[in-house]
Amino acid sequence: MTTLITGGAGFIGSRLAARLIDAGEKIVILDNFNDFYDPAIKEANVAALGKDVPLVRGDIRDTELVTSIFKDHHITRVAHLAGLANVRKSIEFGDQYADVNTTGSVNLMNIARKFPVSVFVQISTSSVYGQTTRIPFSEDDNPDRPLSPYPASKRAAELFAYTYYELHKLNVTVLRLFNVYGPNGRPDMMPLKTIDAILQGKTITVYDDGKLERDWTYVDDTVSGIAAALERPLGYSIINLGYGSPISLNEFIRIYEELIGKKAIVEYAPAPASEPRITYCNNSRARELLGFNPQVTINEGLAQTWAWYQEHKLPMLSGK
Ligand SMILES: NC(=O)c1ccc[n+]([C@@H]2O[C@H](COP(=O)([O-])OP(=O)(O)OC[C@H]3O[C@@H](n4cnc5c(N)ncnc54)[C@H](O)[C@@H]3O)[C@@H](O)[C@H]2O)c1
Repeated sequence: MTTLITGGAGFIGSRLAARLIDAGEKIVILDNFNDFYDPAIKEANVAALGKDVPLVRGDIRDTELVTSIFKDHHITRVAHLAGLANVRKSIEFGDQYADVNTTGSVNLMNIARKFPVSVFVQISTSSVYGQTTRIPFSEDDNPDRPLSPYPASKRAAELFAYTYYELHKLNVTVLRLFNVYGPNGRPDMMPLKTIDAILQGKTITVYDDGKLERDWTYVDDTVSGIAAALERPLGYSIINLGYGSPISLNEFIRIYEELIGKKAIVEYAPAPASEPRITYCNNSRARELLGFNPQVTINEGLAQTWAWYQEHKLPMLSGK
């Protein structure tokens, strides 16, 4: 049994790779090390996994390459995390998001269906719920009013996944992730940007008086959910994967101020139309079907993130 992890050099993918390696499982990573953020971070993520980890540098849209990976490595499970994230960036580059997140996913499914793949885990996003007024978000809510190209491209991939299940009996579990954070996090996301800004005395722009709420989920909890999904083919299933307890951005910044021992400089601005007022996960389906049981509270998770930052990023910033 060999698991293909696409996007395995990225934030969540590399953490999943480490988890599966620790469990003694065989993996192959496919990643194109794009410059969406500094590729050196991805190189470091992969290097930390050890030099024997099978790694293919390439693109999920490269049909020939992907087919050869399935053949050569006898792939039996797929954790598909490669993609372009970030709601705000997607507003300018909708065509690229469609190409990578939708067409790239379809390319993978179309190849996977020709091999004895037991389960294909398609990573999606809570952003598909858009500006819903129903909280917490449940999988039966309408996901068809995406507020930006990012969730639109992910939702389109979810629909293709259904078709591949119906036509070819490819078992696809769609996991809708909620605001993942933790050590090694993406530098374009709020958890690391906030630390940078507080330390450097830079202004943090906060939308809607800091009242927007986000359901932050610690990366190791997210990885537990993905690992469980890889163990259990469920036909075609859509499952929310989030902690289930949102906090306001003001509260999020306050926790960091306390940890770092320094006040943030905050500037309030109206939220752009692409920003939902809240993300809030009803995770009862994940609990039932995947045994999901998130462990890390936001206070613990931000403390872990700050501890990691102090150990790994501060020495680099101070040139040590
Ligand atoms: N981080 C979050 O809060 C969050 C929330 C919801 C969904 N997601 C989804 O989870 C997945 C992983 O997110 P992340 O935060 O680890 O992001 P990330 O950017 O760190 O990881 C994505 C990886 O995919 C690779 N990649 C991108 N395009 C590729 C292509 N065409 N071919 C091969 N590799 C390619 C990138 O180089 C990167 O290493 C993404 O699909 C993202 O949309 C993340």
